[in-house]
Amino acid sequence: MKFFADTAEIDDIKELAATGLLDGVTTNPSLIAKSGRNFMEVTKEICGLTSGPVSAEVVALDHETMLKEAEVLRKIADNVCIKVPLTIDGLKTCKALTGEGTMVNVTLCFSANQALLAAKAGATFVSPFVGRHDDNGVNGMELIRDIRTIYDNYLFDTEILVASVRHATHVLESALIGADVMTAPPKVIMALANHVLTDKGIEGFLADWAKTGQSIL
Ligand code: G3P
Repeated sequence: MKFFADTAEIDDIKELAATGLLDGVTTNPSLIAKSGRNFMEVTKEICGLTSGPVSAEVVALDHETMLKEAEVLRKIADNVCIKVPLTIDGLKTCKALTGEGTMVNVTLCFSANQALLAAKAGATFVSPFVGRHDDNGVNGMELIRDIRTIYDNYLFDTEILVASVRHATHVLESALIGADVMTAPPKVIMALANHVLTDKGIEGFLADWAKTGQSIL
């Protein structure tokens, strides 16, 4: 399963890239606003930190203007992936762009039928939002399971990019279901390495090693 960083914070992306665990980045208008940076500038900088796809989202609601915005965004770098909302205009834009070989991430997916449409529109990625479903008392991971079944039934190439990931259990369940990608805030990804027994084990080993009086270097 690929790990994308769901952020526009340069320092966090650099830190994650240094671990070798970063496969791409996703941004959205809220994350750009939070970064306080210029959209074009920060996206270009992010594209230089990973060779993987970097999702940059259009803000227009109609197909024609979405295409014009996509034209500007895809000039930023070769690894830009155009993010469009899961609306009829977004799907039309997806079809047009992927037909020309541009990567497209269809976002704000909240139902399996929507994901079916995204695949039929040739999406490179579909982004179902699990955390926002959980916020509303619906188990978001059930949606991922349904999409996996549908995509496997018809051998769709569209990758399931689990979004709105909030914690380690979302990551674990995504991997168990067989999602292709998950995007999460870097701190959620880094925290996956933590285990109290790992810390305790290191402590014990180091205490015993000290008793030997030896050193490796
Ligand atoms: O990039 C979209 C998505 O991951 C948003 O997550 O936490 O705002 O629901 P969240």
